[in-house]
Formats: sequence, structure tokens, C-alpha cells
Amino acid sequence: MTLMEPGVCRVDVVRGQLVGATSHYVKTLADLEGLYEDAVAFDALKGAMSDEVVYEVTDYKPSANPGDMIMGVTRVRPGKVGREYFLTRGHIHANANRPEMYYGESGCGLMLLESPEGEIRAVEIGPRTLCYVPPYWIHRSVNTGSAQLVMTFAYPADAGQDYAIIEEAGGMKSRVVDDGKGGWMLVDNAGYRGRSARRVERVYASAL
Ligand code: NI
Repeated sequence: MTLMEPGVCRVDVVRGQLVGATSHYVKTLADLEGLYEDAVAFDALKGAMSDEVVYEVTDYKPSANPGDMIMGVTRVRPGKVGREYFLTRGHIHANANRPEMYYGESGCGLMLLESPEGEIRAVEIGPRTLCYVPPYWIHRSVNTGSAQLVMTFAYPADAGQDYAIIEEAGGMKSRVVDDGKGGWMLVDNAGYRGRSARRVERVYASAL
């Protein structure tokens, strides 16, 4: 049997990247059109920020084989659209029973989670916080601090990502906004439509 070779990568906390990654993508504010509640603030900021990166992901994918693992680093820059903190697009795993872990390297923020039925959880993440994202939860990262949020993550290589689940429901049920005292609070997303029993059933049936 020919074994795979060990892999080694380094977390560059300052740059917020995994050095030795096999893939890399960036999202600018323009890529995140429609995610924020305040469209006027979004357009103004989009003009001001031009094509600056809001978040990026560098990851190491040894293979896509079931049982294998993907590990990487995500960096979210600090900032707000109106009162709403910068966030990642978010997803549920296409094989929805696959979990994930996030480890805080620097900065502070939240993992915002939503069950298929629309229950919300917000987990605060700071340096040396390890967050377990259980199977079947939609998840996105939010930077609630004034510095960049850098996290290491790992998840099963056959998890996949379904981004449409958030879009179809009109976003996640809650938004993370400035509480006016330097912190954050959750508010209802007025555009949230939720999902039908049939759609929820489809999530639970999607596990391999
Ligand atoms: Ni994930």
C-alpha cells in the first residue's frame, strides 16, 4: 500500500493565512452583495472599499476521500455595514451530518449557527477558543472586534458546502449588530423566510 506523505503547514497569524496551503480564495465586499440589511450603507462602503478583501480562506486539502480531512485558516477583516458586523457568506455542509472545528488564533468574533428549523446559537470565539460546529448546523463567522479575526479550522474532506440554504431562506434568522456599547447583539432579520418542512427533511436526508 502506498501511503500519503505527512503534510505540514504554518499558521501565519499576522497575515491570517495558512502557509503551505493548496488553495486560496478571497471575497471582496462586492462579492457579498445582498447579505447585509442596510443596502444604502453597503453601496456607500462598496464604493469606498473598492476591491479590498473582506475575508479569505487558505486551506490544505490532502484529498477528497471520505475519512480524510481539510484544514485551513480563515481571516475576516474588522468592519461594519451600517450597524452590522462583517461576516462570511456561511453554509451548511452538503453532507449535512459532517461537523467542523474552529480555533481562534487572534481577534474576536462569533460563530453564528442556525439549525434547519431556524434555531440560532452564537458562540463567542477569541484566542485559544475551540468551537465545535455540530452536524446539521448552518454556520458563518462574524468579526465583532476591531482587529482582524483569524481562525484555524478543520472538517471532513467529504463535507462539501451548500451556500444556497441561507439565500433561499432570505438570510440567517438573526443578524449580528453593534449594540452601541462596543459589543454585539442579535437582532431579527426582517427578510428571513425560514424553510419548509420538506426542505428541512431534505437536509436531514442529505447525510451520506
Ligand atoms: Ni463549514
